[in-house]
Amino acid sequence: MTARLSVLISGRGSNLGAILHACATGTLPAQVVQVISNRPQAGGLDLAAAAGVPTAVVDHRQFADRRDFERALQAQLDAVSCDLIVLAGFMRVLTADFVARHRGRLVNIHPSLLPDFPGLHTHERALAAGVAEHGASVHFVTAAVDGGPLIAQIRVPVQAGDTPDTLAARVLAAEHRLYPTVLGWYAQGRLALAGERVLLDGLWLAAPVQFAAAGERND
Ligand code: GRF
Repeated sequence: MTARLSVLISGRGSNLGAILHACATGTLPAQVVQVISNRPQAGGLDLAAAAGVPTAVVDHRQFADRRDFERALQAQLDAVSCDLIVLAGFMRVLTADFVARHRGRLVNIHPSLLPDFPGLHTHERALAAGVAEHGASVHFVTAAVDGGPLIAQIRVPVQAGDTPDTLAARVLAAEHRLYPTVLGWYAQGRLALAGERVLLDGLWLAAPVQFAAAGERND
């Protein structure tokens, strides 16, 4: 079975690009069935269109409140059946109702080693905190923003002289490996959310699966 993914974006869509590439090359047994952006100018919409994936824009500025926005978002999701909703740089906070409706079928990627640095400007904050390692996390989405059960992380050592931009670039490259890998687990039926815990291959994860970024040394 090929898993059907709906991908939600707000911007350039480089994670979407990595997912589309993994689908096209067969490393991810899935199909992106639609891409929805809350921003009409999101670069990821062009990537989707170039790959022949249907796109939709649900512009949050056109709605009186979050619930109206989500009603429209839900209508787009309902138009195409999917197995998993993939947040890939989607910059809107979703309501507890929306998240509950899609519990276990909604995942996000965040550019930090959660629970460290939830929210925005993670690379700046990691450098300011002087951490030795930064990275990215994939988690099931629950009502806690950037706080849902963690599935996997990829660790990226901070290098001397790193700026927020150089660190962000290495973390982003790592994200592009991490997200298709985790989506592949879901697509193969290996990954599930049960209560507040993550099941992988029928075993509870005591901690998120850890990856090291290629070419990085941890010593
Ligand atoms: C990524 O860093 C992702 O972790 C975060 O938003 C960024 C999206 O980048 N949630 P892109 O649009 O996938 O290039």
